[in-house]
Amino acid sequence: MSESQFAFEMRGITKRFPGVLANDNVDFAVREGEIHALLGENGAGKSTLMNMLNGLYRPDEGQIFIKDQAVRFSSPREAINHGIGMVHQHFMLVPTQSVAENLILGQSAPRFYINYSELEAQVAELSEKFGLAVDPRAKIWQLSVGEQQRVEVLKMLYQGAKILIMDEPTAVLTPQEVTDLFDTLRSMTASGHTIVFISHKLDEVVAIADRVTVLQRGRVTATVEGKDTTKAELARLMVGREVLFRIQKAPAQPGAEALVIENISCENDRGLPALRNLSLTVRAGEVVGIAGVAGNGQTELAEVIAGLRAATEGRVIVQGQEVTGKRVAAGEQSEASKGGSWDIQVSLDIGDSSINLSKGDERPEKQAAPIMVSEGLAYIPADRTGVGSSPNLSLIDNLILKAYRRPPIGKGWRIDLSLAREQAEKLVEQFNVMTPNVDTPARLLSGGNLQKLILAREISSRPKVIIAVYPVRGLDVGAIEAIHQMLIDERNRGTAILLISEDLDELLSLSDRIVVVFEGQIMGEVPPEDERVDEIGLMMAGTRVEAVHAS
Ligand SMILES: Nc1ncnc2c1ncn2[C@@H]1O[C@H](COP(=O)(O)OP(=O)(O)OP(=O)(O)O)[C@@H](O)[C@H]1O
Ligand SMILES: [Mg+2]
Repeated sequence: MSESQFAFEMRGITKRFPGVLANDNVDFAVREGEIHALLGENGAGKSTLMNMLNGLYRPDEGQIFIKDQAVRFSSPREAINHGIGMVHQHFMLVPTQSVAENLILGQSAPRFYINYSELEAQVAELSEKFGLAVDPRAKIWQLSVGEQQRVEVLKMLYQGAKILIMDEPTAVLTPQEVTDLFDTLRSMTASGHTIVFISHKLDEVVAIADRVTVLQRGRVTATVEGKDTTKAELARLMVGREVLFRIQKAPAQPGAEALVIENISCENDRGLPALRNLSLTVRAGEVVGIAGVAGNGQTELAEVIAGLRAATEGRVIVQGQEVTGKRVAAGEQSEASKGGSWDIQVSLDIGDSSINLSKGDERPEKQAAPIMVSEGLAYIPADRTGVGSSPNLSLIDNLILKAYRRPPIGKGWRIDLSLAREQAEKLVEQFNVMTPNVDTPARLLSGGNLQKLILAREISSRPKVIIAVYPVRGLDVGAIEAIHQMLIDERNRGTAILLISEDLDELLSLSDRIVVVFEGQIMGEVPPEDERVDEIGLMMAGTRVEAVHAS
């Protein structure tokens, strides 16, 4: 009897959640040694399907086969014992522990039996073989997101994964890190591993995938060969219509200075200089894009503006008012800058229902708390589960985190709950958030739908200034088109928008001016024209714009 050509097969898989048919009779077969991309709109059921392969969920119907053997997993542990490992959309590492400790987490041998020098040697070997450089002694919280992902991959390899599922691995990576990851994936398939690759970035899918399977509303609609397909075809298969990759917009009509950043300096989480005397102005009605390789001060800049990180020097002025270091609505100094764990408590009694926003967090580097920055300032953070939303609160509560303090929803000490519900329902519809209802806790949303929820809250707050950090990270192509249009509508309405992105296409499409940062300083400003891409690239690598012109 010949062995199956498939690394695994899922047949007739159905999975229901209350009010949701997440997977509907799905057949999904992946060949040994291939990179198989799984595509679909936000909420199409990609993560759910893979969570069943990984033993996190159990199918309601259908079966999974590995090498023609039916298998049934009741935990990720059992899946990894069958050689199946998954790197999740939201990482599952323990921040306070070292890389080595994380690798063995969940393994059965008691800790004191572990020979750390042997472990470190094994890690070094795997790192070397698959190009996954990371210091085994570093604590997770000290690592960049890209490094943390390498730890996740290492962990799966160390635990013996032959089939690796990667759920949107590139959403959080810099372009260079994406290139490195692809090298890793190719060296893995060369050594007999099989990869399932989930991504919304169609260029990447076309570049890396041997085959592509498309899900739509829980059903498989197509499987195509990677080399035969195009970005436009994939978009059509996913969304069911043509998608515009570039947005149409009229020239900006900048008004008064809405956001002024004056000589700001600050430190990063490791206490090193992140911004060096940076100044920048965004006017009403314009989009200023910040281009730069991640780690050059962009996220710190956004955090300083939002009052989540202390500036060591300089001022932030919003609508003519200095807001430096203030999380204005909360009326207190930035807690983030103090480090350590902390709690935020906002408790409101409203008849027999009460909203209790409370979150303790052990992570040393950043707090998890609802954002309540100054009136008129909207902040779309890079960290959507920590800073951007409260996972255990309902969609209503998450949506009114800003609005409950003021009329019409906030009424003195009372909250108009029926109005809150009504508005939440409106936003869910307008932003196309896929959910059974607005009482659902935010943590049950799919990754992209959670991002839409944050966007809905922030954009609907009718801001004067929007700080958007990777606003469309994790969104499908159709949702990106819609959100980009909304941001441009906001700009046309006179909102000042500071857009931080690593995606040059996004920056070129949305920005009226592009400012390039390198090591916490501005290298120069460029109009958003395709012909200027090389110049932007040079500046991102640290060349000043005058120098570019001089050459
Ligand atoms: N544990 C759960 N409980 C209830 N509903 C869930 C749960 N997990 C997922 N869902 C729902 O199932 C549907 C599919 O979600 P899934 O996370 O699989 O989507 P996805 O294709 O991965 O989307 P994205 O691209 O946004 O990550 C969504 O409507 C989601 O809200
Ligand atoms: Mg998902």
